[in-house]
Amino acid sequence: MKTIAITGVLGYSGRYIAREAAKQGWRVIGLTNSAGRLPNAEGWELRPMPWSTQEEVLSDVDVLVNTYWVRFSYAGGRHAAFSHEEAVRNTKTLFSAAQRAGVRRIIHTSITCPDAASPLPYFRGKAELETALEATGIPHSILRPAVLFGDSPQESILINNMAWSLRHLPAVATFGQGKYQLQPLHVQDFAEAALREAGQEEQHRIIHATGTETYSFRALWKLLAEAMGIRRLILPVPAGIGYAATTVLGYFMNDIMLTRDEISGLCENRLAVPGSGIGIRPLSRWVRQHADTLGRTYESELARRR
Ligand SMILES: NC(=O)c1ccc[n+]([C@@H]2O[C@H](COP(=O)([O-])OP(=O)(O)OC[C@H]3O[C@@H](n4cnc5c(N)ncnc54)[C@H](OP(=O)(O)O)[C@@H]3O)[C@@H](O)[C@H]2O)c1
Repeated sequence: MKTIAITGVLGYSGRYIAREAAKQGWRVIGLTNSAGRLPNAEGWELRPMPWSTQEEVLSDVDVLVNTYWVRFSYAGGRHAAFSHEEAVRNTKTLFSAAQRAGVRRIIHTSITCPDAASPLPYFRGKAELETALEATGIPHSILRPAVLFGDSPQESILINNMAWSLRHLPAVATFGQGKYQLQPLHVQDFAEAALREAGQEEQHRIIHATGTETYSFRALWKLLAEAMGIRRLILPVPAGIGYAATTVLGYFMNDIMLTRDEISGLCENRLAVPGSGIGIRPLSRWVRQHADTLGRTYESELARRR
């Protein structure tokens, strides 16, 4: 039986990948820094992921799937500080450990439109890691998703919180005209793609892990509102004002709803790529299925890290 190690196995996409891997007959090892903090409902064999000494941790591993990353840099409050720079450093350590341990293939999660020249650390960091992975010489596949949604609204933070805004606010907004696009992919489709890549032999593969449906930001508001039977004004506002509004909302919800950088990435149209995408679970069907429960509660990114 082949062994697959998955970072973020107790997190969002890592959980789906682990379940799919076990279903397909892999021996699954979860690499985690959250053992004891997050529930291990499926009872995965867990190994701590100390960022300095990972070689032994990977010695019996055939394929490594990396989902580890931080959504934004943050310091303060009741949470331990985390940053993109730290995530880049840690991931490079993971790649070198895999190299020394003789891991046969790495499936690495990136983002649509990574860009070494971008002032946005998310997209710049992802580009840096793609280059670092290539430099290891380990055969690999890079998955580039835009936005993921999952089985339940609660785990689909962005879309759920857009729905929450529609339920609770008198009007919603687009940053600018809202023509920039998103291509959401169901996380199970993402997991299946990761497992397909685990079986590939090619040296270097890039997979645009985007959904088959493309929405402008404005169209996404409309899709949600129509499915939920809610009528709301969708106002185009300058990005700075939109950011201020999400910051105030985040303050009241004890969360960071969207960062300035995330809004910039969105407005720069970085969450969509040309082409037809992958996946068999379209967002439109999912939104209709979950219309009654979507946005009933606010889902906090920061609460996930408590
Ligand atoms: N979710 C999306 O919509 C989306 C969209 C585009 C790209 N992606 C990419 O897909 C990958 C997986 O995304 P995901 O949503 O499944 O990730 P996730 O569950 O939020 O995070 C994966 C793992 O990273 C570690 N982690 C996350 N935030 C952290 C923090 N603040 N401090 C320390 N460790 C942290 C955790 O590892 P431990 O559990 O071991 O602590 C977590 O389980 C990422 O590379 C992301 O960039 C995701």
